[in-house]
Amino acid sequence: MDRSFGIRRFTLKVKDLPPKMKSPSKMKAMACTGYGSSEVLRAIELQKPAPAAGKIVIRVRTTSVTSGDWRIRSLEMPPGFGFVARLFFGLTKPRQPILGSEVAGEVESVGENVTIFQVGDRVVAFDGANMGCHAEFKSIKAAGCVVSLHEDIAFETAAALPFGGTTALHFLRKVDLREGERVLVIGASGSVGSAIVQIACYLGANVTGVCSSANVDLVRSLGAEHVVDYTKQDVLSLGPKFDVVFETVGSFNLSQTLMLARDGGRVAMIASGLADMILARFRGKSRGIQVIAGPAEERVEDLQEILALTVSKAFRPVIDSIYTFEEIPKAHTRVQQRRKRGNVVVTVS
Ligand SMILES: NC(=O)c1ccc[n+]([C@@H]2O[C@H](COP(=O)([O-])OP(=O)(O)OC[C@H]3O[C@@H](n4cnc5c(N)ncnc54)[C@H](OP(=O)(O)O)[C@@H]3O)[C@@H](O)[C@H]2O)c1
Repeated sequence: MDRSFGIRRFTLKVKDLPPKMKSPSKMKAMACTGYGSSEVLRAIELQKPAPAAGKIVIRVRTTSVTSGDWRIRSLEMPPGFGFVARLFFGLTKPRQPILGSEVAGEVESVGENVTIFQVGDRVVAFDGANMGCHAEFKSIKAAGCVVSLHEDIAFETAAALPFGGTTALHFLRKVDLREGERVLVIGASGSVGSAIVQIACYLGANVTGVCSSANVDLVRSLGAEHVVDYTKQDVLSLGPKFDVVFETVGSFNLSQTLMLARDGGRVAMIASGLADMILARFRGKSRGIQVIAGPAEERVEDLQEILALTVSKAFRPVIDSIYTFEEIPKAHTRVQQRRKRGNVVVTVS
């Protein structure tokens, strides 16, 4: 993990500084000072990262607050993951205090041996669990999950691409979706769900999206042929008629989700608890159903693909709202409500 944003280097809170006093070697960042409500988030000042060998430093124009950021800050994890998350992210507070996993911006500087990017290039990047994107500058491996950003794509759009888009591509690949298949997307209006709906439609699937009344029109506009309003219809009453089921919310456990897949179908448990993840290999076997669960990989190829789909207008990330850097705590509160439509974007500079 890149520890260049180490919390011990904190000096002054940015909000305490008159703007002109900020040194050019410093940057503002939003730190998560412990686990809890959005009040644990503090604007601070850090050393601006220097370009290490093999890395680039991105001047962050936009970032996002994702369901991953909210989960890490609050430690509200899917069932069974609470302690595992503390081991992974930090026992009493996040080891990496600067959250945020996706950025769009311009290359500010390049380290030794970097040939694929130049200063001034527009880029979009996804650094997953390394995080560190809620800051004015972000250091990332040039050979990591970072790609050049087409000039037609606004920074606000770009920051909403990696998290939902690459997760969708990961699970779509795992289920090996084929043209004409009947697909059910539970949570069709979320970041991941809205991406799955669009890409599955693009691949020629017949998509049914599940959402509340407020999002029926949105999900239909994304291409879903059928929309089920879960406030009016019992989703489980749809029965085992789908070739592929994506559960992106955690509102149904594995046993319930399997009730929606046909024999020989596939089920992707994207927000599953630990027990369902462990049972995934065995539970669908008697009916020949393949169950996929676990974390999505961060692959530069997927970032390239989601960007290409965006450029060709086959995909557009849904943007729920846009906040300023100082409003990141408010953005967290919005995400924590679990009602956002698509993605919550943050403008940084
Ligand atoms: N496995 C992985 O690698 C991976 C990667 C990314 C995310 N995730 C997990 O996947 C989940 C989804 O992430 P996200 O960012 O897409 O979430 P999100 O955008 O925060 O989801 C919010 C959406 O969920 C919908 N929703 C809430 N309750 C619902 C229900 N009972 N039925 C249907 N829709 C419901 C809401 O729509 P309504 O207001 O219409 O209900 C809202 O639009 C999270 O738990 C996240 O931690 C896992």
